[in-house]
Amino acid sequence: MFVPFVDPITHENLQYEDGFYKSEISEKKWPIINEIPRFCDLNNYSNSFGYQWNIFSKNQIDSFSGTDQSEKRFYLETSWSPEDLNNKKILEVGCGAGRFTEVVLSKTNANLHSFDFSNAVYANYQNNSKFRSRLRLSQASLYEIPYKDKSFDKIFCLGVLQHTPNFDQSLKALVSKLSISGELVVDFYPVKSILTFIHSKYIFRLITPYMPKKILLGLIRLFAPLCIYLFDLLCFLGLSLFTRFIPITDLRLIPKKLSSEERKEWAIMDTFDAFSPRFDNPKSIKHVSSYLKSLGCEISFAGYVNFPGGKSAVVRAIRKR
Ligand SMILES: C[S@@+](CC[C@H](N)C(=O)[O-])C[C@H]1O[C@@H](n2cnc3c(N)ncnc32)[C@H](O)[C@@H]1O
Repeated sequence: MFVPFVDPITHENLQYEDGFYKSEISEKKWPIINEIPRFCDLNNYSNSFGYQWNIFSKNQIDSFSGTDQSEKRFYLETSWSPEDLNNKKILEVGCGAGRFTEVVLSKTNANLHSFDFSNAVYANYQNNSKFRSRLRLSQASLYEIPYKDKSFDKIFCLGVLQHTPNFDQSLKALVSKLSISGELVVDFYPVKSILTFIHSKYIFRLITPYMPKKILLGLIRLFAPLCIYLFDLLCFLGLSLFTRFIPITDLRLIPKKLSSEERKEWAIMDTFDAFSPRFDNPKSIKHVSSYLKSLGCEISFAGYVNFPGGKSAVVRAIRKR
C-alpha cells in the first residue's frame, strides 16, 4: 500500500484523472509527465541537478557501476537492515538519479515513496523501472511535500540538505512527515572548522552556479585531466592538504575499482555537483542535532560514518512528539 498523494499546501485529498492529479475541493491540477506526477514549478533552483542526473544518470548506480558503494553507504549511515524496512512506510527525499532508491528496492519487499525537486526523477524512473510496482515517484519540493503530516515510519534524506536554501526549515519539513516514533536519517556537508571554507570551491562558486550549465560542464571536462594529474601528484608527494586549492572533487573518495576513464567521469560529475548547485550550506553536526531536539526528536546517533570510499556527517533522530 502506498501513502496517497495530497495537495502539497492544503493537504486536501487528490483525485487521479487522465494525465493529472486534481484537488477534490480547490480543483487545482498537477500534471503527470512521463508517468511522474509533478507537484512543483518545473523551473526551479534545482535545475542544475535535473541536468546533471540526466547526463550522469548511471555512474553512481551500483548495478551499473559494478560497485556496492551506495548500498554500503546507505546501510552504514542508516544502521537499518533490509528486514527493518519490510512493510514500513518509507520516504526518500531528494532521490536524484535513484542510487539509494535502487538499494532499498533491490534487497527488501518495501514500497518506497521518493521525490526530488528536479527532473532527476526521470533518471530515477528509468534506472529503477524494474521496481516500478513498488516505487511511487514524484517531483516536489521538501518545503511542499505532497503527503499528509505524520505519514512515514522512516525518512531518509542523503546528500540533499546542504543544497537547500534554509537548512533548519528543511529539517522541520522532514520531521513533520514522520509518524510518532518514526525515524529520520540525514547526512550533510559538515562544518568542521574555518578550513571547511578555505577551499577553491568557494571562490569558483561565486560565479559557477550562475553560468550556463553546458558551458560549466564543458570547462570542467576540459580541465579535468590536468586537475586530476595535479591532485594525484600532491597526494603522491604527501601534500594532500593542498589539494583543496585544485578545482576538482576529492578524488580519494571515488571507488578504487573504477577504470581511469570511469574515475575521470565520476570526478567530472562530482565536480559539477559541487560547482553548479545554487546553494551550498554546510552545517555542524552539533547544530543539526540540537535543532532536531528542539523539534521534539531524540537523537540516536550524531557523528561521522565511514563507508568504503568516504565519510559522511550523519544524524539519526526519532520523533517523540
Ligand atoms: C547531491 S544530489 C543527491 C541526490 C541523491 N540523494 C544521491 O545521493 O545521489 C541533491 C539532490 O537534492 C535535490 N533537492 C535540492 N533541493 C530540494 C528540495 N527543496 N526538495 C527536494 N529535493 C531537493 C536536488 O534536486 C538533487 O537531486
